[in-house]
Amino acid sequence: MSPILRISEYARQAKAVLPHMAWEYLDAGAGDELTLARNVLDFDRIELWPRLLRDVSELETRVPLFGQTLPHPILLAPVGYHKLFSPEGELASARGAALSGSTLSVSTMTSVAIETIAREVPDARLWFQLYVQRDRGFTQHLIERAQDAGAQALIVTIDTPVLGNRIRETEAGFTLPDHVRREMLQELPKDLLVRGHGTDLEGIYYPLISPKLEWKDIEWMKSVARVPVILKGILHPDDVELAIQAGADGIFVSNHGARNLDTAPSTISALPGIVEKTKGRVPILLDGGIRRGTDIFKALALGATAVMIGRPFVWALAAHGAQGVKDCVDLLLHDLKVTMALCGQTSVATLERSVLRRPEK
Ligand SMILES: Cc1cc2nc3c(=O)[nH]c(=O)nc-3n(C[C@H](O)[C@H](O)[C@H](O)COP(=O)(O)O)c2cc1C
Repeated sequence: MSPILRISEYARQAKAVLPHMAWEYLDAGAGDELTLARNVLDFDRIELWPRLLRDVSELETRVPLFGQTLPHPILLAPVGYHKLFSPEGELASARGAALSGSTLSVSTMTSVAIETIAREVPDARLWFQLYVQRDRGFTQHLIERAQDAGAQALIVTIDTPVLGNRIRETEAGFTLPDHVRREMLQELPKDLLVRGHGTDLEGIYYPLISPKLEWKDIEWMKSVARVPVILKGILHPDDVELAIQAGADGIFVSNHGARNLDTAPSTISALPGIVEKTKGRVPILLDGGIRRGTDIFKALALGATAVMIGRPFVWALAAHGAQGVKDCVDLLLHDLKVTMALCGQTSVATLERSVLRRPEK
């Protein structure tokens, strides 16, 4: 079999093997999917403007982050229910993460408990993504389970007081098949779990996520967490100071893969405003629309410390399991290195913004 050289090929293969409902759950954005398109297009609008005659015989892709050195800046974003995409679910993703030197963000909606992932794939670096629950005691319980299992950071998703209006997912009649369970939430009352099964047209609130989360709750979370707390979903520059004052250790520029608020800005277009307000005080992560190494290069050159990919690694997981996840990360990393060399940039930590160009209209 010839090697896969484009991320879009993973998407094509995933679509061919997945049941329609799983594909729609994975692929869909919110509303008319305008932000979904912009997440990708806005990367394309930025040109690379290479600098020449520089020694690029050695390239540094390592990134210091939260006291660790990551081999490269490509992490795997939190995505729910990997068993929809591969029989082994998050275990396969964790193996792929370990093989590729990436980090797996385990979702609150994981279909394999974080303890099981940590036990079965001990060499995987795991972070935990928290959807804050309506019951504070249960939220604390989730944080403690994740930390005890070895999660090295906590990503608190703050952009989802309600689920987005995912039209395509609803049209496909998305519900969880019986073999896919929310393994972190099994202790919750049964009726909450049943009501949280699919997108609900009757009410806007989702039983498994608190719609009451406020900045002061982040301060509480910081008092409970023993690991860095990253706030995921920040798009507005005016939220940066609030995040830092609340104690955030990292800012995660994300529009939830365009699954929540349609016509929200693309993440790459929101990034410069966030970087300006952050002033280097905490690391910045970004996800949304990354499909090439050049996209990663652009995000880092604009000030992100590292990036996450969502759909791309899940496409690869669906098509080729753990090896697919590894190959997908390798493919992006290869393209990132080629881009660095061709732009005369030797280290991901010091990419020059002046090699990016916004063409005149
Ligand atoms: C199928 C799917 C499920 C997701 N589940 C979660 C989740 O459980 N928690 C969360 O914070 N984000 C979730 N996200 C958003 C991702 O973490 C990430 O922000 C997004 O996928 C990045 O955009 P990309 O898919 O274009 O790379 C999900 C995204 C997808 C595609």
